Amino acid sequence: MKILTVVGARPQFIKAAAVSRVIRKHHREVLVHTGQHYDRNMSKVFFEELNIPEPDYNLGVGSGSHGRQTGTMLIKLEEVYEKEKPDLVLVYGDTNSTLAGALCASKLLIPVAHVEAGLRSFNMEMPEEQNRVLTDHISNILFVPTKSAEKNLKGEGIKKGIYNVGDVMFDAILDFKKLAENRSEIIRDLHLEGREYVLATIHRAENTNHIKRLGDIVSALNECGRTIVLPLHPRTKKYMSDYGLKFNKNVKVTDPVGYLEMINLEMNSQKIVTDSGGVQKEAFFMKKPCITLRDETEWVETVENGWNKIVGTDRKKILDAILNFTPSKKQENIFGDGKASVKIMKVLDR
Ligand code: UD1
Ligand code: UDP
Repeated sequence: MKILTVVGARPQFIKAAAVSRVIRKHHREVLVHTGQHYDRNMSKVFFEELNIPEPDYNLGVGSGSHGRQTGTMLIKLEEVYEKEKPDLVLVYGDTNSTLAGALCASKLLIPVAHVEAGLRSFNMEMPEEQNRVLTDHISNILFVPTKSAEKNLKGEGIKKGIYNVGDVMFDAILDFKKLAENRSEIIRDLHLEGREYVLATIHRAENTNHIKRLGDIVSALNECGRTIVLPLHPRTKKYMSDYGLKFNKNVKVTDPVGYLEMINLEMNSQKIVTDSGGVQKEAFFMKKPCITLRDETEWVETVENGWNKIVGTDRKKILDAILNFTPSKKQENIFGDGKASVKIMKVLDR
C-alpha cells in the first residue's frame, strides 16, 4: 500500500517519528512536509535527532494568515496527490497542515486516516478545534488516543472507523527516553545542575494574541520566586517584543530546543507550566505536576486523574499552582501501552 503522510509542525514530526518507522516496515510511505514550521530548531533538528527520513516533498508554504497558509497547502498538496496517487493519506493532530492534508485527500476521494482524532476543547474559537472537528468529519479511519476522544466522536454521530490505539506520543517517549537521558548539555549550559526549576512553554494563539493574557502569564512567571526554564516559541517571542513585555532574571529563556533536550528538561524539572497539548501529556508520562495555562483542555483525563491543574491566565492562580499544586492521586493508565504505532499499522494492514 502507498501511504502519503502529511506533516508540517513540530509536534507532527515527533508523532510521525514513532509511526513512520513502523509503517515503513510493511508499506511504501511518501512523506510530505508542508513547510509550516521551517526554522532549523522548529523542523530540521527533529528529522536529524529522531532519524526521520528526508521528506519526499517540502512544499515550503511557511507562515501566513490561516486562509493563505491552508489554501497554499491545498494547492500544492493537490499536485503531489495527483502525481503520487496514494492509497491513503495519513494526518496527525490539529494544525493547519492536518486540515489541508485531509481536505485535499477528501476532495480527490482518497481515504484519510487521522491520528489523534476525537480530541475536543469545545471552544470553536481555537484554530486547532476548527481543524480537529473538520478533519474528523472527513476522515475514514480515526485513531483515537483516549476513551473521552472516542466518546466525543460518537457524540458527533461518527460511528464507524474509530480505533482506540492509545497515544503515539507515549510510543515516542518510550522510543527516545534512553537517548534523551544523555542529552543533559542543556542543563549544564543553563547552570541548572543540582538546582530545582520549573519548565514552561507558551505558544497558543489564545494566549499570545492577547496582551492581557500574555502579560498576566509573564508577570506570574516573573514573580513566582522560582527558577523557570522557558524554551520560547517564535510566535511568543514576536508578540513579547510587539507588546514590550520582558522576563525577569529568574526566567531562563532559550531558543526552542530539540525533542531530546526537551525530554531531558522535562525529566529533571520539578513542575511543568504549559499551554501545549503535547507537553501536558509528556508531564503526565514523566510523572510531573502540570499547570495548564488554558481555560480548558482536550486531555481531560490528566485533570480528572489529579495530575493537571487548569489555571487559565489568572496571575494569582498561576502563582498559587506553581507554589502549591501537588497531585493527590496515583496515576492511572490513560494513554495506552506505548504500542499505538503497531496497532495503527495493523489496522492499516487490514
Ligand atoms: C502551530 C499550530 C498549533 C501547534 C503549534 C505547534 C495551527 C493553526 N497552529 O502553531 O496548533 O500547537 O503549531 O508548535 O496550525 N514561526 C517562525 N518560525 C517557524 C514557525 C513559525 O518564526 O519555523 C513564527 C512565525 O512568526 C509564524 C508564527 O510563528 O507566523 C506562528 O506559526 P504557525 O505555524 O502559524 O503557528 P504556531 O503558533 O506555530
Ligand atoms: N518541544 C520541543 N522543543 C521545544 C518545545 C516543545 O521539542 O522547545 C516538543 C515537546 O516535547 C512536545 C512537542 O514539542 O513533544 C509539543 O509541541 P508544541 O508544544 O509545539 O505543540 P502542541 O503539542 O501544543 O500542538
